[in-house]
Amino acid sequence: MSPETMSADDQPLLVARGVTKRYGPHIGCIDVNFELFPGEVLAIVGESGSGKSTLLSVLSTRLDPTAGSVGYRMRDGVMRNVFDLNEAERRLLMRTDWGFVHQDAREGLRMGISAGGNVGERLMAVGARHYGEIRSTALDWLNRVEIDQTRIDDAPKTFSGGMRQRLQIARNLVTNPRLIFMDEPTGGLDVSVQARLLDLLRGLVADLGLAVVIVTHDLAVARLLSHRIMVMRHGRVIETGLTDQVLDDPREPYTQLLVSSVLQV
Ligand SMILES: Nc1ncnc2c1ncn2[C@@H]1O[C@H](COP(=O)(O)OP(=O)(O)OP(=O)(O)O)[C@@H](O)[C@H]1O
Ligand SMILES: [Mg+2]
Repeated sequence: MSPETMSADDQPLLVARGVTKRYGPHIGCIDVNFELFPGEVLAIVGESGSGKSTLLSVLSTRLDPTAGSVGYRMRDGVMRNVFDLNEAERRLLMRTDWGFVHQDAREGLRMGISAGGNVGERLMAVGARHYGEIRSTALDWLNRVEIDQTRIDDAPKTFSGGMRQRLQIARNLVTNPRLIFMDEPTGGLDVSVQARLLDLLRGLVADLGLAVVIVTHDLAVARLLSHRIMVMRHGRVIETGLTDQVLDDPREPYTQLLVSSVLQV
């Protein structure tokens, strides 16, 4: 393809090169390399302790790597190493172009302020000032994540686990991010609630054309949401490929065990 016909979507949004994190003598993750394209959903799977959360924390700059770099294509099209950004630039990225959905919604929400306030706060962080507009955008987002609009003035501490998780998603998506990191977003929920949340997530990700890096030890979640899978073991990526290929025809014995559910927790 000639450079003239290449659009922004042909170029990676996120590029990990040699990403390594050690905790003293302990290994978090080692030499992780991948590219993520706009609109692509990548699942990171592997047993407990394999380094999934560590990798996600480094990718999202919540942890500094021991070695390696993470490139991100900024809105101006320029690829920057996120660890070269200054504190203000990183914060701006976190508040606008990126989202982070935690397994425990309490980490991603302010439990004492209203649902509308939780969504509105992120809008105000990107400059929204008009009260009426902020409130109507918040109402719209509550609707999109299937939270009854009459709950707008209630605090998430009065919400169920599933509602909290949907509110956390609304708070993250309201600024039109291009990339969302998720760590076990359905982890603590009942199976029936999980299924509904996954359905909702799948719809939103497709509608908004979001790129997602999702950590899960649940291969059914990976199957439903992701285009590609990376399998981690002892901090390393041991297998990667298209989701259906990896799950239907795993190459590595470890992945075969994972898929046959022997190692699933
Ligand atoms: N703060 C820390 N200090 C020391 N070692 C850590 C720390 N956080 C993680 N580790 C170690 O790094 C390795 C990877 O842990 P990580 O939390 O990334 O795994 P995980 O794949 O997310 O596991 P789980 O599925 O249980 O969440 C483990 O051996 C863990 O003990
Ligand atoms: Mg983890």
